[in-house]
Amino acid sequence: MAGNRTFTMIKPDAVESGHIGNILAEINKAGFKIVAMKFTRLSKEKAGEFYAIHKERPFYNELVEFMSRGPIVAAILEKVNAVEEFRTLIGSTNPANAAPGTIRALYAKNVGENAVHGSDSDENAIIEGAFHFAGTEIFA
Ligand code: RTP
Ligand code: MG
Repeated sequence: MAGNRTFTMIKPDAVESGHIGNILAEINKAGFKIVAMKFTRLSKEKAGEFYAIHKERPFYNELVEFMSRGPIVAAILEKVNAVEEFRTLIGSTNPANAAPGTIRALYAKNVGENAVHGSDSDENAIIEGAFHFAGTEIFA
C-alpha cells in the first residue's frame, strides 16, 4: 500500500531566488498538508550524508557543495500516495525535461540546481524525514 508521507527540501538555488513562497503555494494547491517544516542549513558533512547514495556519481561533490551553500526549507508532507504524487508535482530531475507547470519547470535552473528535492520511495521518505526532524517537531 502506498504511504501518505513524503519529505521535501526547497534547495538553496530556489531560496536564493526568492521562490520559497511560490513553491509552498504550489505544494498547498496540490493538496499536500505540511506536518513538519524548518528553515535550516546543511553542513557539507550533513549534505554528503543525506545524498550518500550518490557518492560514486560524478556530480556528488558538486551536489554536496550546492546543497550546503545556503539555507533550505525542509518539510514533511502528507497526502494519499504522497511520494508518487509529489514526484509528479515537481517534475523530472532536469528541468529541460520537466512537464509544463511542474515546480522544476517553473523554478529550477538546471539539472544540478533544480529547486526541490522529493523522496523516491516510502522507505526513504521515512529515513529522510527522521534525518531532519525529531518526533516532537512533526504535527500530524
Ligand atoms: P532529488 O533526490 O534531489 O529529489 O532529485 P532526483 O531524485 O530527481 O534526482 P537524483 O538522481 O536523486 O539526483 C539527486 C540530485 O543530484 C543533482 N544532480 N546533478 N549534474 C548532474 O548531472 C546531476 N544529476 C543529478 C540534482 O540536484 C539532483 O536533484
Ligand atoms: Mg533522488
